[in-house]
Amino acid sequence: MAPKNSSSSLPTKFRFMFLLFSFLIGTASAQLSSTFYATTCPSALSTIKSAVAAAVAKEKRMGASLLRLHFHDCFVNGCDASILLDDTATFTGEKTANPNVNSVRGFEVIDTIKSQLESSCAGVVSCADILAVAARDSVVALGGSTWTVQLGRRDSTTASLSTANTDIPAPTSSLSQLIQSFSNKGFTAKELVALSGSHTIGQARCTNFRTRIYNETNIDSSYASSLQGNCPSAGGDNTLSPLDVTSPTSFDNAYFKNLQSQKGLLHSDQQLFNNGSTDSQVTAYSSNLQTFKTDFANAMIKMGNLSPLTGSSGQIRTNCRKVN
Ligand code: HEM
Ligand SMILES: *[C@@H]1O[C@H](CO)[C@@H](O)[C@H](O)[C@H]1NC(C)=O
Ligand SMILES: *[C@@H]1O[C@H](CO)[C@@H](O)[C@H](O)[C@H]1NC(C)=O
Repeated sequence: MAPKNSSSSLPTKFRFMFLLFSFLIGTASAQLSSTFYATTCPSALSTIKSAVAAAVAKEKRMGASLLRLHFHDCFVNGCDASILLDDTATFTGEKTANPNVNSVRGFEVIDTIKSQLESSCAGVVSCADILAVAARDSVVALGGSTWTVQLGRRDSTTASLSTANTDIPAPTSSLSQLIQSFSNKGFTAKELVALSGSHTIGQARCTNFRTRIYNETNIDSSYASSLQGNCPSAGGDNTLSPLDVTSPTSFDNAYFKNLQSQKGLLHSDQQLFNNGSTDSQVTAYSSNLQTFKTDFANAMIKMGNLSPLTGSSGQIRTNCRKVN
């Protein structure tokens, strides 16, 4: 590249240096590795797998709850275990944010895993990595496919209630809002559909689908009536119904088949199949379980890569509920 004159080459060099610099920083901050604990805590993965298997054997829904914890962690300033920090008199965390309050669960399972890992490898395994591995092991425990979890995330010393409120999508979202929320985190509409397949397991509270079952028209009428039996038009906000009416404890593709028959529980679920741009992807996943599982696994790996703290950023919390 021949510089035309000094006044134009200088800013060009500047821009190049800046790009190179941000590239180096960008890759450094995303430097996770599947063998991160191979020498420092070789039992880490088996410890987490056993604890998740035990928790899911005791209560199948726990697999869904642990998967959701990782999502709600990663979408709020990255996968840094910020969601695990308890409120104190002087600190407000994310647990009382709208998408989380009276809703996210599984903290005791994470505590159990953390204390086991502190006994075997004190100060080594981050809470953020425990969440990522527990999410994968939960999917596997409920019949989904496996993937290799990248490791080496560190834990935040902060949390953000306001970001939890803005960055975790609401069940009232339209398709364009869902696409925008996921695009804000670097995901395509296809990945939005794949990740939404998480709703093939787990439960939702009446308060989150009441309007849908009483006032929406793109819902199967017998499905709506049967849900109304368990979710009154007023009161009973916390009564639960399965997100996948067909097979709520199996990580399969029934969620997408339900959408095709207008049996999505949340308004946001049915938005993915409502004569819009994502219909064809829902159809593809409903007819090809293996494609769904593969795309889901890849999208989960990508989600786990959202802005991890690495190197000397953050810390390895001793207790996932509080900063060291
Ligand atoms: C696409 C936008 C999404 C919206 C609007 C949404 C919203 C919700 C809502 C409202 C609930 C029920 C909460 C309650 O009633 O207490 C729920 C449950 C759940 N969500 Fe999502 N979600 C979305 C995407 C995701 C993603 C990407 C994942 C995982 C990667 C996920 C995993 C789950 C799971 C597993 C449950 C059941 C949790 C349990 O039973 O404890 N969701 N979601
Ligand atoms: C349904 O719509 C009516 C009329 O807009 C409204 O008064 C009512 O509160 C809605 N019900 C629910 C459960 O959203
Ligand atoms: C989608 O379009 C078809 C054909 O126009 C129509 O029959 C159907 O009711 C629409 N479905 C929804 C959910 O709007």
